[in-house]
This record gives sequence, structure tokens and C-alpha cells, in this order.
Amino acid sequence: MGVFKFFILVVLASFVAHNYIVVAQDDAEIIIGFTEDERNTLLALKTGFHNTFLDEQWQSFNCINWYGVTCNGSRVIGLTLENLDITGEINVDALFNLTALSVLSFRNNSIFGQVMDFSKNIGLERLDLSRNKFDGLISPSLVNLVLLESLQLQENRMTGPIPWFDQSSLKEFNVSNNNLTGPIPNTRTLQSFNSLSYDHNLFLCGPPVSITCGPASQVNDPRSSKKSWVDATLIIVNIIGLVFLAILLTVFYKKKKQVNEKMIEKKKVILEEKGDEIPSNVIDHQAKEDLGKLVFVDGEPEFELGDLMTASAESLGDGNFGKTYRAKLDDGRNVIVKRLRDLKPLSRDEFMNQLRVIADQKHPNLAPLLGYFYSNDEKLLVHKFMINGNLFNLLHGGRGTRDRIPFRWGARLTVAHAVARAMEYLHMNPSSTLVPHGNLRSSNVLIDENKCALVSDYGLTAIISNAVSVHRMVAFKSPEYLISKKVSKKSDVWSYGNLVMELLTGRVSILSVPQDNRAVDLCSWVHRAVREEWTAEIFDLELMVQRSAIHGMLKLLQLAVRCCDKAPENRPDMSEVVREVESIKVPNVDSESEEDLSLDRSLTDDSMSATPSR
Ligand SMILES: *[C@@H]1O[C@H](CO)[C@@H](O)[C@H](O)[C@H]1NC(C)=O
Ligand SMILES: *[C@@H]1O[C@H](CO)[C@@H](O)[C@H](O)[C@H]1NC(C)=O
Ligand SMILES: *[C@@H]1O[C@H](CO)[C@@H](O)[C@H](O)[C@H]1NC(C)=O
Ligand SMILES: *[C@@H]1O[C@H](CO)[C@@H](O)[C@H](O)[C@H]1NC(C)=O
Ligand SMILES: *[C@@H]1O[C@H](CO)[C@@H](O)[C@H](O)[C@H]1NC(C)=O
Repeated sequence: MGVFKFFILVVLASFVAHNYIVVAQDDAEIIIGFTEDERNTLLALKTGFHNTFLDEQWQSFNCINWYGVTCNGSRVIGLTLENLDITGEINVDALFNLTALSVLSFRNNSIFGQVMDFSKNIGLERLDLSRNKFDGLISPSLVNLVLLESLQLQENRMTGPIPWFDQSSLKEFNVSNNNLTGPIPNTRTLQSFNSLSYDHNLFLCGPPVSITCGPASQVNDPRSSKKSWVDATLIIVNIIGLVFLAILLTVFYKKKKQVNEKMIEKKKVILEEKGDEIPSNVIDHQAKEDLGKLVFVDGEPEFELGDLMTASAESLGDGNFGKTYRAKLDDGRNVIVKRLRDLKPLSRDEFMNQLRVIADQKHPNLAPLLGYFYSNDEKLLVHKFMINGNLFNLLHGGRGTRDRIPFRWGARLTVAHAVARAMEYLHMNPSSTLVPHGNLRSSNVLIDENKCALVSDYGLTAIISNAVSVHRMVAFKSPEYLISKKVSKKSDVWSYGNLVMELLTGRVSILSVPQDNRAVDLCSWVHRAVREEWTAEIFDLELMVQRSAIHGMLKLLQLAVRCCDKAPENRPDMSEVVREVESIKVPNVDSESEEDLSLDRSLTDDSMSATPSR
């Protein structure tokens, strides 16, 4: 329906406005600490630079691990690549997407190409391109950088005149050893530097250098004898500019008015809908009434579709089954909105029935559904926003940096337990449309504000088209699917085995991110390790500090190996898995495991007892 077209517009607009990739909510996106555009920008630089060191260094998901890159939150604010013998080319527009950049240094390389256009890098404070092979003009865009403090362009091959720098922020400036020509502009800023900043150019003249300018070189100077002619030109240019601006403003105003009118129209539609009787318990009410309404799982509507429409939304990227957004409601609350695509050709009733089944699942380790929406054009799921992201991030985010909080044994065992219990609950459910979960993996295990693990994305195998499931769901990568084209509860057990191996090894599973070059087929890898008896190397180093826990880790590993068995009938079922995980004891905190157990303590006994037993 039309209302949704508008919703999409709003979403798309804010998507363009701030295309952040935040720590992933679920499978939506597993890039950490990077906006997609900025990551792509750096990857494009890497391609142009042909530098084996950078090729090795710039790979992981987290920009914190990228050599020379400084991030603040998800934004790149610094890029310092000095003395690296980079010999490649850079494009003029290469930095357009690094809009938060504040420091850039390529000092002492052999980078060539024209000086970049910095018109989008309005926060730039320090720029050092010295000792490279840049040619062409000094980009006039630099004149508009009002925060620029330091500009080092010496020892390149730049040509043409020096632009009219007059920002008062500029305290360091060097253009010596280039091929610049013409008079040095008579601005207070440029005149404040001495001749050492200008030495060794092809032909720079006028103060502060001692060469006086000949008559020919004065044409470029708007303050010279040609002043009146230049003034006239400037006036004409100004008039043209003003006319152009006026046209733009008129067009913009008209557009805005149209949009406003549309918005009012849409709001009217919603108000009219609201005029219908809204039942207190939405789940009870009949299908035809909730056409085009947001259905709330827990009865009382907490917000309206209109609130979602006007909420600022931020794309979290492409999930497995459609785009995922984080919408910020007016009251400050965040919710996750998933737009489903690639659905089975279900009737409206079939879709709504399955959503009700999903909504009915209540377990402390299942991520609850807040609401859903169905219209011909749009199918939406609304979830709670989980501030602590997902298990994938917890396991792999910030590795090798000081920001990394170690994820210790007790906490990992708690996660293994929570996930097992959630899966058991789903498997015991009388409703056959819930099994298999089909897509159990670390990025689908969310971590809530109490650091409790919640399994998400259950019940979707029944509504997502087979072609997409086969392509994107973990269970369809299991040995039995490859052989017999069938998945079952035991495929979930297999997925669980993989997940536990990811927990124990700290390695990226190929099931989580097939395209990551660190990714490992964990079942085969662990099998080989066990066979070849290098078991000790299997475990994540963050676990190995707790040597007293090794017994428990081995026990969990054995369980995971059984879950991974090629033959489904040899795998335990989820109830057995739960019992076995529960039998593993967390050792008492002792002297050898003293360091940084804060996370463990908060995650082990407390959170286990906080979740009522089945
Ligand atoms: C990082 O970003 C925050 C918020 O945008 C800002 O307050 C802070 O000063 C920034 N830190 C640095 C080092 O730029
Ligand atoms: C420039 O970088 C090279 C390595 O590429 C290094 O050997 C050299 O010492 C550096 N020169 C200066 C002046 O820093
Ligand atoms: C900047 O990002 C946009 C997408 O928002 C992309 O289309 C464009 O190619 C990027 N520009 C550069 C120079 O990387
Ligand atoms: C400077 O320009 C002159 C001619 O314009 C050219 O011959 C010379 O090679 C240039 N020098 C550098 C370092 O680019
Ligand atoms: C500018 O750079 C040159 C090296 O190319 C150096 O000799 C000179 O001292 C520098 N000038 C200033 C003011 O730092």
C-alpha cells in the first residue's frame, strides 16, 4: 500500500544520510567499526597502491586492525601511511567518502596522480603529502578547509599557482621543492610563512621570496593593476551565481512543499485507520482487520506504523532475507525493522499464521518478536534492538586490540547452554513449522543488555523461499542436505556443533562468513586436530589462560564433535545436548585465572539462575 512507499522513502533517505554499519544486530551485517562506504573507499585505495604490506594488513572486519587507519566509532578519522614505499596511483575523488577524516599523511612514498579533491573532507586538520610524486595543480578545494592547521606538500611535482589560502587556522605550510609558478598570493596567512616554505620551485615570485614578479605574472593576482577588469568579471560571475541559486531555491521549495503535502496526506491515511476500532489484544483479532496495521505481539500497541514511518532509520545492511534497519522512535527507543523479501508464495493467512506461531514462542533464550506487518508490498518484522550485538561480534570483534574484552570460558559455556536450551525448546514444540530453525549461527545469537544469549530468526524456514534458504541458511550446508537434499532437527544439531566449535576455537566459521579469508570449516578442522593429536592448539588463547578449565573444554569439544557427525542418526538430540552441557562444571575462580574475569562473573552463575528452567 501507498503508506509503505513513503516509509521506504523515509528509510532510503536516512540510509543515504547516514549509512553507518554498526555493530551488527544479527545477521544483518558483520562488519565492525566501519561504514560500508568508507571500507570500500579504503579497499579502492589499497587496489591502487599495489603494496604487499597493505594487502596483508587491510583485510579484517574491524578497522581497528587496519594499519595506519584510525577510527572513531564507525568513522575513519585518520589515515597515516608513511615511509611504506607505496608506488601506486590515487584518484582525484578517492577521499570523497571519508567525510570524517581529520588527519591524512602519505609522507615519503611514491604515490602519483593529481592532488586529491578535498571538498568533502571538511574536518581535515592535518594534511601531509610530502615526498611523493603528485603532479598537477594544488587543489583549490584546500582553500575551503576552515580547520586546516598543517599543509605539507613539499617535494612533489605540483605545478601552477598557489591558491588563495587565507584561513586563520593554518599554522604550518610547506610547498617547497615543487614546480609551482606565479606570484605568492598576498594573504595574511600565506605572507606569515617565510621563504623556506616556498623555496625550490620553478618560478614563484613576490614576497616572501626575494624574486620580484614580472608584469606577465600579475594577471593571476586579483589585487594587481588589472583589478578593475577582474572585479568586473567577478561581478558577472556573482550575478550568474545568484540567478542560479534563486532557481535552485525555487525548485527546492516546490519539491519540499510537495513532500510536505504528501506527508500530510499519508498522516491522514493513518489517522483514518486509527479511527477504526483498535482491539486491545491484537493477536485475537481477525485477519481482515489488521490489514495494513502493525500487529503487536504483546497486545497493546506501543507505537504506530506512523511512528515507524517518521522515525529516523539507519540501515544495518543486507540481512539474509532482506534489508534490516534500526529505527529510532521519537521517545528515544530503538527497534529493529526487517523487511522480508524472497518469501514463499504464501497467502496472507498462511503468512499471518506462521507469524503468530513465531510470536507465541516464549523462552528466556529466544529473541522475542515485538510486532509484524503485512501488506501486499511489504512484510516487516519488528524486533527489540540489542545493545550488545551478537555472538559473532563478541567472539571476533576487536581481536588483537586493546579494546578487546576477553571472552572467557565461563561466559562461553553459558552461551553454549543458553543456545542449547533455546534450540531444545524449539525442537520440542508441537508446531512443525518451527523446525528446523535452519539458520543457527553465531551472528544469529544476540546478546541482550544482561549479557544473556538469545537465539533469533527462528520460524523463518517456513516462510522464506526454498531457493534462498538453500543458498543462505546454515542447515542447508550440512552433509545430509548435500547428499539427500533433506534437512531436519539433526541439521540444527549439526549447526549447533559448528557454533560450539566457533566458541571453543575462536576461529571464524565458514558458516558465519563464507567470504572471509580467515574462515575455516570448523568440523573438518577440529576432526583433523583431534586425529592428529594437537588438541591443545584447538582452543582459543583467551580460554587457555584458565588451565583448570581444560577438562570442561574437552568435554564440550567432544560433544561438538558428536554433533558434527556426518551421519545425522549418530548425532545427539537437543535434550541430550542440554543435559551434557549442564553437566560441565565451571571451575572456581583461582589464581591462574585471575586476570579479567569480570565478564565471566557477570555471565556465569548469575545469568544461568536468572533464566528459569524449562
Ligand atoms: C569521537 O566521536 C565523538 C562523537 O562524535 C566525539 O565526541 C569525540 O571527540 C571523537 N573523538 C575523537 C578522538 O575524535
Ligand atoms: C622514506 O621511506 C623509505 C622506505 O620506503 C625509508 O627507507 C627512508 O628512510 C624514508 N626517508 C625519510 C626521509 O624518512
Ligand atoms: C562513495 O560512496 C558511494 C555510495 O554512497 C559510491 O557510489 C561511490 O562510488 C563512492 N565514491 C568513491 C570515490 O569511492
Ligand atoms: C618542472 O617543469 C619543467 C617544465 O615545466 C619540467 O621540465 C621539469 O621536469 C619539471 N620538474 C619536475 C620535478 O616535475
Ligand atoms: C619545507 O620542506 C623543505 C624540504 O623539502 C625543508 O628543507 C624546509 O625546511 C621546510 N620548510 C619549513 C618552513 O619547514
